[in-house]
Amino acid sequence: MFDLESRTEREEQSRFICTANHGFLPYAQEELRRLFGSVKSTVVVPGEVFAVTLQVSAQEAVEQIGAYPPMFLRHLFPVQFQENNGDAEQILAQLTSFILNRSELNGSRLNVQVRKSEGCSWEGNAGSLKQEVMDRLAPAGAEFTLQDADYIVSLFAGDEAWYAGVSRPADNLSDWNGGAIRFQREEVQISRAKFKLLEAEATFGIDFRAFHKALDIGAAPGGWTSFLLERGLEVTAVDPAKMNTSLLESPRLTYLRKNAGEVKFREREFDLLVCDMSWSPKLMAKLVTDLLYSLQTGGTAIVTVKLMHKKPLALIKEVITLFEESGMQLQRVKQLFHNRDEVTLFMIKYD
Ligand SMILES: C[S@@+](CC[C@H](N)C(=O)[O-])C[C@H]1O[C@@H](n2cnc3c(N)ncnc32)[C@H](O)[C@@H]1O
Repeated sequence: MFDLESRTEREEQSRFICTANHGFLPYAQEELRRLFGSVKSTVVVPGEVFAVTLQVSAQEAVEQIGAYPPMFLRHLFPVQFQENNGDAEQILAQLTSFILNRSELNGSRLNVQVRKSEGCSWEGNAGSLKQEVMDRLAPAGAEFTLQDADYIVSLFAGDEAWYAGVSRPADNLSDWNGGAIRFQREEVQISRAKFKLLEAEATFGIDFRAFHKALDIGAAPGGWTSFLLERGLEVTAVDPAKMNTSLLESPRLTYLRKNAGEVKFREREFDLLVCDMSWSPKLMAKLVTDLLYSLQTGGTAIVTVKLMHKKPLALIKEVITLFEESGMQLQRVKQLFHNRDEVTLFMIKYD
């Protein structure tokens, strides 16, 4: 009886390596606490990576996280293999045998994702460690891919321990290594801010080509505007600052070199409103909500919210309430990999 109970208890635990944007680890921990009650967690990389033990099975944990998508937890993978940091050759031999013993991997396409911290016993970089793992799996017939993998094999080689696990890409919150989604740099890079909208497109699954007319508030130098023009939209860009000259010739761009508080539009003129103003969140919310009359019912808004002080969860709630009171319905809120001290809101106008 005693044995059976303790086995059940153990089976109902799961362990994950979790990642947040640098500095936001405590908020990702807090999100897990709110979802699962008390959780045991230890920091693996200060500020961004932690190991957590949950009192539910890995399957239940993933389902729960999928049902309540977190804002700050960017990536996670289940820990099914853990060895204290030590002789790298020995750990790699154990890791290889752990992976090859996972029957579900037979005939599957694998994406091997490796991260390491400074003090781990592998002396090369994460890329060479990944190559080493793949070289050890290849003789058994493993097939590797970067996209559309059946399973992700994740390894985090840390100062204290090496952690590894096998999971479906959809269960990791992001199928990028550690949730660090990368986009190709362009020859003419107007602003890094463009990556935020590219990431919002991928993460929230928004089809920007389906919109016709966009209002871009706080548009300069024009990364977001250039993205919207590339997706075929007509864009009205509002900013007292200068737009990149390469955009000004576009016949689909109207540039109003003004403060957002000074502009007027027709009712329901736009089907998309975006705002990336890097400004006091409550003043931003006031400016944007004052312009919501120009967004059609059913229209979409993408807005970044700068996290100015030490209580981001309360601040985000307050800003969301301001938008909800103005007829917007929140679809998702998330700190994207390309968001620094901010989160991105994805909303739809229902009123
Ligand atoms: C982070 S930048 C925007 C970057 C832009 N999304 C891009 O992709 O290039 C913030 C911009 O907001 C503008 N801004 C700040 N307050 C504003 C206001 N009240 N009205 C209009 N624009 C404003 C600033 O002039 C600045 O150009």
